Amino acid sequence: MDKIKKIIPETRIKKKVAALARRISRDYQGQELVLIGVLKGSFVFLSDLMRRLTIPVSLDFIQVSSYGASTLSSGVIKIRKDIDLPIVDKNVLIVEDIVDYGYTLDYLLRFIAPKKPASVKICALLDKPARRKVRVKIDYSGFKVPDEFIVGYGLDRAEKYRELPYIGILQK
Ligand code: IMP
Ligand code: MG
Repeated sequence: MDKIKKIIPETRIKKKVAALARRISRDYQGQELVLIGVLKGSFVFLSDLMRRLTIPVSLDFIQVSSYGASTLSSGVIKIRKDIDLPIVDKNVLIVEDIVDYGYTLDYLLRFIAPKKPASVKICALLDKPARRKVRVKIDYSGFKVPDEFIVGYGLDRAEKYRELPYIGILQK
């Protein structure tokens, strides 16, 4: 059993999610929004976030090839599951768990653009800026985290720890 150091407790996550949802609801007032969750890590955050939104939304998911059990990024990304909903002329919000190198979101933005949405923005619960390789504009960002391996609240290490209600650092 690995040791995990809790860095963000449930209460802080809950407040942050509520604050992000208020901003998003205000910014898209009177409009419709398509939420695209990036599988699998974002699903816990997304499910909490969407229930706090006060605007009508549709929901879809996209999955990219993961880096595998390794904690290192290859920078090589492929689509494993595309979205099913048409997004032509729709406002799209990509919901991600964490931005690390930035490769995933950079790739997803390029992948989604040819589908001709009216707009595309990014919401990421966590931002790990230390190792960023490509610039990504995170429109709605939750917490900045240090250059450590983060688990919990949907984030995994080799498919473990997604179920933790808090966010923690996997101790080396
Ligand atoms: P990027 O392409 O390096 O920005 O990677 C983003 C993806 O890598 C995220 O969607 C996560 O699935 C995964 N990832 C990056 N850092 C961590 C971490 O600290 N814990 C768990 N997953 C991570
Ligand atoms: Mg992910």
